[in-house]
Amino acid sequence: MTRILVTGGAGRLGRSVVATLVEAGHEVVSVDRIRTGAAGAREIELDLTDRTATLAVFRDERPEAVIHLAAIAVPFSAPEDVIFRTNTTIAWNVVEAAGVGGATKVLAASSPTVIGYGAPHGWTPERLPLDETTPLAPWNAYSLSKRVIEEIVAMAATRDGDAVRYGIFRPCFVISPEEWDGAPTQQGHTLLERLDNPDHAAVSLFNYVDARDAGDFVLAWLARADEVPNGSVFFVGAADALARESLDELVPRYLPAAERQAGVLRDGAPAFSVAKAARLLQWAPTRSWREQLHEPVAVPTPNAATETSLS
Ligand SMILES: NC(=O)c1ccc[n+]([C@@H]2O[C@H](COP(=O)([O-])OP(=O)(O)OC[C@H]3O[C@@H](n4cnc5c(N)ncnc54)[C@H](O)[C@@H]3O)[C@@H](O)[C@H]2O)c1
Repeated sequence: MTRILVTGGAGRLGRSVVATLVEAGHEVVSVDRIRTGAAGAREIELDLTDRTATLAVFRDERPEAVIHLAAIAVPFSAPEDVIFRTNTTIAWNVVEAAGVGGATKVLAASSPTVIGYGAPHGWTPERLPLDETTPLAPWNAYSLSKRVIEEIVAMAATRDGDAVRYGIFRPCFVISPEEWDGAPTQQGHTLLERLDNPDHAAVSLFNYVDARDAGDFVLAWLARADEVPNGSVFFVGAADALARESLDELVPRYLPAAERQAGVLRDGAPAFSVAKAARLLQWAPTRSWREQLHEPVAVPTPNAATETSLS
């Protein structure tokens, strides 16, 4: 059993990460601005932008491992300067506090947006599927803050050597368990709407990951962090694309310049490769929208035939 501190444990991703770690038998404390009443974990209410308070909590808790998720998680959901300042300040405070608390494993959430898709003046991948060697090109405060978070973690890994194991993961569009049943996603629409109208998911190349698969990734990283290069970065996504059509047809419709690159994405293949996580951590996603999504069953209108015949 490891004593693990999760920041942002009340969030869409954090709730599943906390549940997965608790279920695996770890002692978990969630640090967030809000509490959820989650079973099995202690919850501490804290604004992580407050450096002094953050250092004090980590000093008291003395976590062995820190999973850093807290952030303003949606691009343009707050003024650009607020997103940049909040996310980078929190990340700095958490990495510093992890050291003060004596943690020997620190994993932080970045985002696939660091590679720059959706840029207003165009973005064309050199090749598909995208992987951890794809160049970074953030174009807004959110994706830039994630690039800075990656750099903060890389700096700490260089500073501390192998005494502390650091990692970065870039979860694809996170789907929490209740969203399979129709709860709104972080973009406000439902998953069914996202599937029925490809415009919604096109900008992020139809990526997604079940929050519980991301929780399993965190477990896998904790188990093998000592064996992988310190500071390693991982994409964490599903084994298929969140789309009813194959991406070799769908991607060129939205990114005509990537038609040749998209040719390899056949038969439901995703645009983001998770081969690195499979190779280094023996992690693979196990959940797909094809079996998780509860599509509404078409219920015939009662007495429809009778009503029609009466009119
Ligand atoms: N949801 C996605 O699709 C997605 C994709 C890629 C990366 N990520 C990253 O994963 C992480 C978790 O995302 P999420 O979807 O669970 O987001 P979320 O908004 O559901 O959860 C974030 C949590 O952080 C907490 N938080 C924010 N500011 C805080 C502060 N100052 N002090 C303490 N707590 C604070 C919030 O209260 C919230 O519970 C984020 O770092 C996000 O950028 C998410």
